[in-house]
Amino acid sequence: MDLARQPQHAPPRSPLRGPALPIGIAVTAIGMLMSLVSIPAGEAAADHRMPQPGLVVEVPSVQVGATAAADPCAEKTVTDAIAAGDDSATIAAFGGGESFRAAVAAGNAPCISLSDPRHVWVVVNKARPLDPIDFTPQPLAAAPLQVTTGSGQARADVAAAVGEMAAAAAADGVGQIGANNGYRSYDLQVRTYATHVRSEGQAHADAASARAGHSEHQTGLALDLVACAPCGGIDAFGATPQGAWVAAHAWEYGFIVRYESGSTGVTGYMPEPWHVRYVGTELAAAYHAGGYHSLEEFFGLPAAPDYVG
Ligand code: DAL
Ligand code: ZN
Repeated sequence: MDLARQPQHAPPRSPLRGPALPIGIAVTAIGMLMSLVSIPAGEAAADHRMPQPGLVVEVPSVQVGATAAADPCAEKTVTDAIAAGDDSATIAAFGGGESFRAAVAAGNAPCISLSDPRHVWVVVNKARPLDPIDFTPQPLAAAPLQVTTGSGQARADVAAAVGEMAAAAAADGVGQIGANNGYRSYDLQVRTYATHVRSEGQAHADAASARAGHSEHQTGLALDLVACAPCGGIDAFGATPQGAWVAAHAWEYGFIVRYESGSTGVTGYMPEPWHVRYVGTELAAAYHAGGYHSLEEFFGLPAAPDYVG
C-alpha cells in the first residue's frame, strides 16, 4: 500500500453521515442495530468509560449499504479500493464501518487481513505479532503536539488526526493534550519492555508493556497521551479533563481507547486510558456505536491475555 497516496484525515463526522450510505438507510440500520443490542445511543456514549468486566457485546450482522453482497471481496469497488491501498475507500466499498466489521467477523472478507500492519484494521496483541516482526510504518511524521520524549512520531495520517483531536479538545476548553510516545521501533520496544521487567518483574511488565513485535506502537497507529501544560505523565491522564474528553470523543477523530478497564481478560493489559489507537473514522464510529470495549470483540477474535508459547 502506498500510504503517501492515502487521503488526508477527513474532518470528524457523525457515523450517521458516512459517505457510503444514504442517510435514510444509515439511520435505519444504526437504529436497528442499537435496538437489537439493547443499548440506546445515549447510554452507549455514557457507558463508554465504564466497561463491564467480562462483557461480550453480541452484535448481529447487519448488512447495509451498497455492498451488502454475498461475496464483498468480489465487488469491483472493493477490489479497486484495495488495489489503490485506500483503507477508507475499502471500508466505504463494503458499505461502511459496521458492514466491514460484520463481514470480517463473519469470515466473509478473505481479501481483508487483520494481520497486515499497513492497514487501519490490523489487530496486534499477545497472540498476533506484527508480520513482518520488524515492520516499520511509512511515512512517519512528527505528531503536532507537545511531546515529552524523543518518540513523538506516528504514521503521517495518524499524526494529522491526533493533531485535529488535540485542537478540538483545546477548543472545547479542556486543555492541552500532548504525547509521551507515538511510534516505537522493534528495537525501542525491546528496550522499553526490558526496562519494565527490570523495574517491576516480568509478570507486572507483561501486564503493562508489550514484548517487542507485539506492540501497537510499532504500527505507527498508536500514541500515549498526556495532559499539558505543564505535561504530566501517562498514569495521570485518565483522571484529567483531557482524559475524560478523549474517552468520550476520540472515536470522532478515528481513535479508540484500546486498553479499557474491564477488558484485561481480553487484552492482557491493565487499563491504559492514555493509549489511543487509530482505526480510522469509519471503524471508530462503528466501534463506538456498537459499544465495543476491545478490538478483539469488535472483529470476533479470541481473547489474547497471554503470549502463545
Ligand atoms: N503499553 C502497551 C501495551 C504497549 O507496550 O504497546
Ligand atoms: Zn501505548
